[in-house]
Amino acid sequence: MNQDSKKKNAAEAAFDLIKPKLNKDTVLGIGTGSTTNFFIHALNSLNVEIKGAVCSSISSEKSLSSSLKILSLNEVHSIDFYIDGADEYNDRFELIKGGGGALTREKILASSSDKFICIVDDSKHVDLLGKFPLPIEVLEIARSAISRQLMKMGGKPVYRNNFKTDNGNQIIDVHNFPIQVPFELEEKLNNIPGVVENGIFSNRKADIIIKAKDTIIEVLER
Ligand code: A5P
Repeated sequence: MNQDSKKKNAAEAAFDLIKPKLNKDTVLGIGTGSTTNFFIHALNSLNVEIKGAVCSSISSEKSLSSSLKILSLNEVHSIDFYIDGADEYNDRFELIKGGGGALTREKILASSSDKFICIVDDSKHVDLLGKFPLPIEVLEIARSAISRQLMKMGGKPVYRNNFKTDNGNQIIDVHNFPIQVPFELEEKLNNIPGVVENGIFSNRKADIIIKAKDTIIEVLER
């Protein structure tokens, strides 16, 4: 089975899992990326009656059916279910996210959610986070200063060319950066002046991981 079919299966399994729990007061959080797009497709194709959805990117907002109300985080009390993909996950449900550059809004939505359901294909599993280059959203003026700090920390920072986040900032992808203690590194990186957010999701990790393999779908809950 190809990777896209697995992503689709994981997304549809997430939709099936939450469908019975949806009602007119439900607020959904919708992430960003190709796996989440399959979830959006499932959501669009059924007439579900919910309060609305808060999206982590303009691109996801645009993909949502016009029959679903787009909400801002400021107008809701909390998010019932946040559904999103990941670039990597480990056995402790910690993640690397931000391949699509939406990590800051994704982390805000994940932190504001009661249940964070992460949808992945089995290729995203790692023992040690950091094979995937770690995305860091930075203020443009601090890009070089931050890159020097990252080199001192042992990583190889690469500026993401021709890319601006929905917040108007830039992304540095850090290569060769094995993440031994995700929780500590997440905090340390966010303490560098000019860093807006980094793509380690350890402080707010996933609650449920739906992982699609060739023949089965596993629902892992912590
Ligand atoms: C978007 O910024 C990312 O965090 C995505 O969730 C992540 O890159 C997974 O993307 P795919 O679902 O496209 O693999």
